[in-house]
Amino acid sequence: MKRIQKRAMAIGLIAVLCFAGTISAGPATAKDGMVATVHPLATQAGIDALERGGNAIDAAVAAALTLGVVDTHNSGIGGGCFALIHLADGTILALDGREMAPAKATRDMFIRDGKADPKLSQTGALAIGIPGSLAVYDYALNRGGKLTLEDLITPASDIAEQGFIIDPAFASRLAGVAKTLAQFPESAALMLDVDGNPWPVGHLHKQPDLAKTYRGIARDGIGFYYRGPFAQAAQKWMSENGGLITAEDFANYTVKQREPVISTYRGYQVIGFSPPSSGGVHVAQILNILGHFDFSEMDAPTRAHVTVEAMKLAFADRAHWLGDPDFADVPRGLADADYASGLAKKIDLNKATSVQTHSTPLDSDINLFGRHTTHIAAADSEGNWVAITATLNTSYGSKVLIPGTGVFMNNQMDDFSAQPGVPNYFGLLGAEANSVQPGKRPLSSMSPTIVLKDGQPVLTLGAAGGPTIITQVVQAIINHFDLEMPLPDAVGAPRIHHQWRPDRVAVEQTVDPALIEALKQRGHEIHPRSSMGVTQAIGVTEDGQLIGVHDPRASNGAAGGYDRTNP
Ligand code: GLY
Repeated sequence: MKRIQKRAMAIGLIAVLCFAGTISAGPATAKDGMVATVHPLATQAGIDALERGGNAIDAAVAAALTLGVVDTHNSGIGGGCFALIHLADGTILALDGREMAPAKATRDMFIRDGKADPKLSQTGALAIGIPGSLAVYDYALNRGGKLTLEDLITPASDIAEQGFIIDPAFASRLAGVAKTLAQFPESAALMLDVDGNPWPVGHLHKQPDLAKTYRGIARDGIGFYYRGPFAQAAQKWMSENGGLITAEDFANYTVKQREPVISTYRGYQVIGFSPPSSGGVHVAQILNILGHFDFSEMDAPTRAHVTVEAMKLAFADRAHWLGDPDFADVPRGLADADYASGLAKKIDLNKATSVQTHSTPLDSDINLFGRHTTHIAAADSEGNWVAITATLNTSYGSKVLIPGTGVFMNNQMDDFSAQPGVPNYFGLLGAEANSVQPGKRPLSSMSPTIVLKDGQPVLTLGAAGGPTIITQVVQAIINHFDLEMPLPDAVGAPRIHHQWRPDRVAVEQTVDPALIEALKQRGHEIHPRSSMGVTQAIGVTEDGQLIGVHDPRASNGAAGGYDRTNP
């Protein structure tokens, strides 16, 4: 639909209707629209988009663009995303905005003296892939939105210009990487004071360069970014700092529409994102395995044991098979029910299955289950349901801020397998399927998921937290549908996680000690973690309202409901 028509429609709707939008630190319920994110300003931006006549797609994009201003450690237009969208007419869109390796990338680009150097894939110029988030937001709006990119990015540019107050969550994430940010003068100038200290809680954080970039995109569209001043600025910085990315790489970036992974779990249709996300395949695979066990007949420790065993089997497959399907042969059968039935038979209810032993990766204890990345859930009463997971990879990505643009660039190249047997930041191993190649997209754990019952959406969810994203989504589904927990409890419940290597079960500190003991008795090594990940979800209440939930683990999260009432 043309921009002017869309604007006229929005203005017309505002003229005849009145609205009520409410933001809540806890779960929110409403009839006509719902948004859940990790930041109240982003949730508010989504609600504002609904109030201006937009739908769930507009709301999700508004929220995502605002997160790129107020949550710059997790996501932004310098990063990538996967967007899974159920349109009101039942069409499913799976939009791949994952970063892409530059044309000059080579398989061994991170190898020095025969060994992969994680500093190169995690920080600085070589760590950066061509970002896809902005291209996906634009694509999604053109396919299903009612408002324009200009409508949605302009309020976010105002926040960048006028500033927002730094909260404890932001300050603590910034403090954690201040030393690395200090290596890059532009990043230091924006994020640190003159003495090199990170901005504290209460600081009014203004980002005039980011505001300028957003306004350029509002004016010229995404061409400003992919084929204009932004791409030029990135190429200049790259050529001066040993990077490989050129303006041509930006111009060559395209959104890929993927075929979603569709599986069935206890009568629900689970729709996930296909590779280069590993999320859809392995959420389906784990649930397919678990479908062979009757949870209603099981005590909690046995249920946890079986779930852990299924996770372990899935992550072992992930390490071997998964990669960008445009470059590697990723078998569809991984998500097949038949395949899962063979795997289910391998599970012994009484003891942990032995796995090949491998040494624990260096530094695997540090930040393994961080909260990088962000998930946005949005839904409306027309039947548009959205799950967008977006990321820069680790906090502030590569730590590189392209001069004059205010945009932090991702370090998604670290999600490639730099060398067989060498784990990435998250301790994940990979094989040839996920090796670096020009134009290839690195494997991801991001798992935007939509669940249908009798063809109607009943849940949209996704998470942040590296490989725990996959297991968070699985556990929220089990908690909500098998154990019949209300959605806030399903998201808040204590989590466990196994990713095959290292061979141990990570458990949150809130997990029942008796359950931990029972897992130990079955032969599992236990690895305590303070908390794992951040999930956002929207479901449906018994009386047919939308319920939005942000993870209680994210201190700043917010769900917002929206009701339209005739005056
Ligand atoms: N960068 C984390 C992921 O995509 O899994």
